[in-house]
Amino acid sequence: MFKKQTSFTLNDETKTLIIGTAIQNNIVGKVFEGLNIDASALEGSHTKTLHTLGKLPSKKVVLIDEQALNDHKKRPELINGLGVFKEDAIVLLDAFDEANMELLGEAIGLSQYTFDEFKTKKTEKGTVYYHTASDAAAFENGLVMADATNFTKDLVNRPYNALNAEKLGDIAKELESIDNVSVKVLGKKDIEKMEMGAFLGVNKGSTDEPKLIHVTYEGDASNQEKTALVGKGIMFDTGGYSLKGVQSMPSMKMDMGGAASVLGAIKAAATLGYKANISAIVAATDNRIGDDAILPDDILTSANGKTIEIISTDAEGRLTLADALWYAQQEGATRIVDIATLTGSVIGALGDTITGAFSNHSEFYQTFEKTANEAGELVWRLPIGDEHRKSIETPFADIKNSGGRKGGASIAAAFLEHFVDEKTPWIHLDIAGTAFDSTQGAKGPMVKTMAKLFE
Ligand code: BES
Ligand code: MN
Ligand code: ZN
Repeated sequence: MFKKQTSFTLNDETKTLIIGTAIQNNIVGKVFEGLNIDASALEGSHTKTLHTLGKLPSKKVVLIDEQALNDHKKRPELINGLGVFKEDAIVLLDAFDEANMELLGEAIGLSQYTFDEFKTKKTEKGTVYYHTASDAAAFENGLVMADATNFTKDLVNRPYNALNAEKLGDIAKELESIDNVSVKVLGKKDIEKMEMGAFLGVNKGSTDEPKLIHVTYEGDASNQEKTALVGKGIMFDTGGYSLKGVQSMPSMKMDMGGAASVLGAIKAAATLGYKANISAIVAATDNRIGDDAILPDDILTSANGKTIEIISTDAEGRLTLADALWYAQQEGATRIVDIATLTGSVIGALGDTITGAFSNHSEFYQTFEKTANEAGELVWRLPIGDEHRKSIETPFADIKNSGGRKGGASIAAAFLEHFVDEKTPWIHLDIAGTAFDSTQGAKGPMVKTMAKLFE
């Protein structure tokens, strides 16, 4: 929990002090003097906890290296080093450089994240107070960004038996408490009415209803631009009859990572009151086997009328995205970013720290890339070539849903391209590598970048 504290004296002995290293600052100066140290106490690490041993009223001081705070490569290690504060702590904002306030709030917010919903023994957590003589808005904006990323991580970390399509819809509905946000959650009947045959096909093997989740934020009524963030929402991916193996199925609760990131991004942008019109759209279902599940060779008709031959029921994300992309345009999107844990192939190409990107619009992509760079999130553009487009041709339908093993991330993008009007600026993000780590858990990729697109 984070709380603003209006008055503060160094005589407060109940809280751990958190300070930067700007020696010209009054408080930092007093603490350094009291402990008889200087900034070199950090000894090359990004954070340091000092026990004051009676030299100051508070028992502990945490030093934060502000240069590392500002460095995208070092920041994750710094956040990790801070860890969860077991006891109450107070961040003395005036003991940091003004320019670092937002990053500081974000780092502190991210550092307190734990996922212990399913642990019988919960992590001990103190309250984190923050104090400044002036206004704390920038720090609080950083806290909002961290809170949105933590929200995304929670969604991804929850297993299927705690989070199916319906529950995701319920959680999305709660975003309505934010100003200018409205949420629609459409059920199977409405999805059938819209003839979303591709989306419904994926859901056929399931015992749970599909949900089409549509969150709208209207933050700039005078602006014609409406950006849709479309997230892959496969609540669990067994592969369907093209069943995944014992090795590759665990962790597939993460297959709604795109959905979680778009919900986090719109939550941040709306809470921060950015001047923009945004929607977050998710076609949510699990992908599993069942008496009625789709089979390879089946042909589905998507909402935009194109027919799709199923080669692999494990290439299900692109099927749900096809109809979600159609819906986004139907709802008047002038620009689209989709984000999906789409292909194992992108992990082979870029590893698990860089998100793969595709776009039909270089100017929009450049804006996006610049935003990602400023946010410190790694992204690399990959091509959609004619050979990829050709690989999904089939004699039996308009296209097929898999085009072989080589260049799988580009083939998936070539598939999605069929469902986006070529005049609509579009970016496709493949986060199969960046969404989740089996030891670290969810990573919350692109929440900050997508939100900051609208700052
Ligand atoms: N959800 C998977 C992609 C994935 C793999 C995400 C590993 C995270 C980690 C996706 O639905 C899938 O199964 N893709 C197949 C596509 C293939 C059948 C064309 C893949 O990448 O193997
Ligand atoms: Mn799959
Ligand atoms: Zn999948």
